[in-house]
Order: sequence, then structure tokens, then C-alpha cells
Amino acid sequence: MRLIIEPDYDKMSVWAAEYVARRINEAKPTEGQPFKLGLPTGSSPLGMYRHLVKLNKEGKVSFRNVITFNMDEYVGLRESHPESYHSFMWNNFFSHIDIRKENVNILNGNAPDLQAECESYEERIRKAGGIDLFLGGIGPDGHIAFNEPGSSLASRTRQKTLTTDTIIANSRFFEGDINQVPKTALTVGVATVMDAKEVLIMVNGHNKAQALRHAVEEPISQMWTISALQMHPHGIIVCDEAACDLLTHGTYKYFLDIEKNNL
Ligand code: GLP
Repeated sequence: MRLIIEPDYDKMSVWAAEYVARRINEAKPTEGQPFKLGLPTGSSPLGMYRHLVKLNKEGKVSFRNVITFNMDEYVGLRESHPESYHSFMWNNFFSHIDIRKENVNILNGNAPDLQAECESYEERIRKAGGIDLFLGGIGPDGHIAFNEPGSSLASRTRQKTLTTDTIIANSRFFEGDINQVPKTALTVGVATVMDAKEVLIMVNGHNKAQALRHAVEEPISQMWTISALQMHPHGIIVCDEAACDLLTHGTYKYFLDIEKNNL
């Protein structure tokens, strides 16, 4: 695993965006051979999306031949609800770049048969040839997508019940009212993310420090689902200083040292 430590949120976001742009450009995607990108929601990736929009407008990266797969979506929230992940993605990213609507994939949390929706999502990813780069954030309890503590590290796309911690954390988007937060979500599984050729996770802020410690220094555990990244051959975490608060001084210095000349 690589751990890239940037001084603050903005620099973390720029690093992640430039990495994504570089990977897309290196792949030289075409209509027949598109680049497949896995995408998260949440506040962690917002800065990265802003910078990717800028790079797109400057002509430094194009999403014309990029197919996207989002990680998750609430169950039972209408697509047009301002806090649905559909709205989040179109408002913060897709509406501002040159992506083709038919290349955007987001789980349908209102599908009549939710299990069939999850199975067909896995099938769509498989048919596309797998994901080249999966981006993500993590919750304070170390969950990736909506794979809450105790989720199987071999899990695939399915419906999950949100923990009280996550409902409280996400209530900030629902007028601080936990009753408005959906209680379940559809989410890709830990194994769905780990199947990607590369995984890049953004972690910022002191409230993620414990999760980052578990991701980097502690054993792999279903109680901290991000720790599965330790088994990935090309896993990268990019974080800010505040998220490093609970890493040992030795770990912190080690990663700063080995990454100082890397892009
Ligand atoms: C939700 C999402 C996750 C996200 C997490 C952290 O639970 N399902 O994908 O990583 O929130 O969100 P934030 O980046 O806002 O801290």
C-alpha cells in the first residue's frame, strides 16, 4: 500500500485529481476501449471533483471515453432528492464535464427488485471488463462505500443496513434529523472494490484518524472494512496531516520519506 501524506485538504484533493487525470490520459481511452472509473460520494472527494472539473475545462483530461460506476445509493430516496447520490454526482461532477450520460452507472435504490438490481450492477461491471481505478472515501468507523463494520471482506453488491453511527454522521445532510436519513442503502461490496486494478482512497480530517490507523497499521479486519486494502496489489491512500494524528511517528515519517519523490 502507498500512503501519500499531503499538508491539507486542498493539496490532497489536487493530488488525487491529477492522479486520476494522469491514469485516464495514459490509458488513451477510445469508445471501444473506455477507461472504467469507480466513484464515491461524500465530502472527502468534493475537492477532487472540483479540480477534475477544472482540468476538464482546461482540456487537460476528457471523460468522453470514460465509463463510471458509483459505489452506492440510498434505498427509497427519490433520484431527484437533493441528497440522493444521483443528485450529488450530477450536481458536483457529471453536469460540469464532457461525460456521456449513457456511460454513467449509479445503483437504483428505487428498483422494484433490489437484489436483481445489485446482481445486474455486478454484471454491468463485469461486462465492461472490470474497473480500472476505484476511488473512495471512508467513514470514521473505517467503512468503505456502505460496507459497515462486520461486512464480509468478500462481499459483493447488495443492500446494507446503515449503522446508527453512519445515520448520525449523514444526518448533517438531512437538516440534522436522523429520521430523514434512509436506513438502508445499496452498495458495492468490499470485494467489488478490491477487484479493481487500482484503488485510491481519500482520507482527511482528525475524525478519520482512527480509521486511517486501522487501515495502515492494524491487522486486516471486517470491523474496519477499509483494512482490506492491505491485500490489494495497487492500493493507494492519499490523506491530509490531520488524518495522520493517530499514526505512530515512525509510520508517518516512513511514508513521507519513501514517497517524497513520487508522483
Ligand atoms: C458515506 C458514503 C461513503 C463515504 C462516507 C464518508 O457513508 N457511503 O462512501 O466514504 O460517507 O463520507 P465523508 O467523505 O463525507 O466523510
